Amino acid sequence: MRTLPVELPGSEYKIEIGAGNLRDSLLSAIRQFDPERVVTVTNSTLEQFYPAQIKKLLEPEGYQNDTCILPDGEEYKNLETLQRIYDFLMEKKANRGTVMVAFGGGVIGDMAGFAAATFMRGIKMIQVPTTLLAQVDSSVGGKTAVNHPLGKNTIGAFKQPNHVSIDLEFLKTLPSRELQAGYFELAKHGLTHDRELLDFLQEGKLEPLDLDFLEEAVFRSCRVKARIVEQDETEAGLRATLNFGHTLGHLIETHCGYGTYLHGEAVGTGMLFAAFLSKQEQLLDPSSWETIREFLEPKLRSVSLPQLDYDLFSSLLLHDKKASREAVNFILLREIGSCFIQKEMPLDLIWKHFTGFCKEFPNLCQLTTD
Ligand SMILES: NC(=O)c1ccc[n+]([C@@H]2O[C@H](COP(=O)([O-])OP(=O)(O)OC[C@H]3O[C@@H](n4cnc5c(N)ncnc54)[C@H](O)[C@@H]3O)[C@@H](O)[C@H]2O)c1
Ligand SMILES: [Zn+2]
Repeated sequence: MRTLPVELPGSEYKIEIGAGNLRDSLLSAIRQFDPERVVTVTNSTLEQFYPAQIKKLLEPEGYQNDTCILPDGEEYKNLETLQRIYDFLMEKKANRGTVMVAFGGGVIGDMAGFAAATFMRGIKMIQVPTTLLAQVDSSVGGKTAVNHPLGKNTIGAFKQPNHVSIDLEFLKTLPSRELQAGYFELAKHGLTHDRELLDFLQEGKLEPLDLDFLEEAVFRSCRVKARIVEQDETEAGLRATLNFGHTLGHLIETHCGYGTYLHGEAVGTGMLFAAFLSKQEQLLDPSSWETIREFLEPKLRSVSLPQLDYDLFSSLLLHDKKASREAVNFILLREIGSCFIQKEMPLDLIWKHFTGFCKEFPNLCQLTTD
């Protein structure tokens, strides 16, 4: 088991990464917090694969655990489902001494995190992420949220977890498509901040699962995120670089309809485009571009965009805001492992490169313009 401390003033915590380490990792954290009761938040899919997983670990040790089982899916990441968590906490007479355990992927982690941030003005919470995306990204750093019908993750809070237990064994039941989607967020940390991490990923393969390889990769990925969050917890600047690939990624998700492509898949295409744009603008040298292309291209899912012209492209990138200038901030690469925020990049320039990108990679991104 590897341990990674996250050192934030007033909210230090540990990320523990291993295979088959859940019992030790969770119990030692719980003993330290010594809660009056534990409430686990999970979903019906996890409950099916791993019935009463957390309860079975805690109750023999004398900790009372109640489990709130939510329906599975991004479409349930909303205020109504959040209300179900609050109702459950009230019914079970949870109080400020209650510890919450989020057992699931990013959807459960984000919702349970927000409930823990707000219930009784904040209770302790432990993240037990079970998808690769949640293990390398969402369980670390304290962004919590639910969606509003008009915008993703618009209602939320910063709430660091008090502990993160990452057990790679859970990845054995994760569908291959979900695994690959999470891998793009992992690669993102290498591409933008850690050349050695990208080199390491190039040496291995995601599937068939090799838990030793993954332990090292997840450790390094969490280390990148933790160091950035330590410097910029609330995304005043540096943390925004973790949105690399997300400008086009979000556009793909929104324009194709949520669920058509997984978030990580859309971000994967977005990262290749951001690297392409960096190369076209002579910021990234051609050989680094080739390395990135060779790494990403075979892993990407082919994306087909319904009718899209410049006006729609702009309004999607501006999120329908009436902007005074037709420009957005865009994360670009300087070299592998080093990125920067290009402020106010003109939308017509992004569009020009995007149509060029679709022409060069018709197998990856099909654009219908008429
Ligand atoms: N807070 C952050 O910093 C942050 C960062 C990135 C993404 N996110 C959020 O994370 C969410 C996406 O998370 P995700 O990709 O983990 O999706 P998810 O939570 O929907 O999980 C994907 C699917 O896998 C299932 N699943 C989970 N673990 C499993 C396992 N071990 N075996 C079999 N099935 C399993 C889930 O039930 C679900 O059907 C989005 O809502 C996104 O906004 C948050
Ligand atoms: Zn993301």
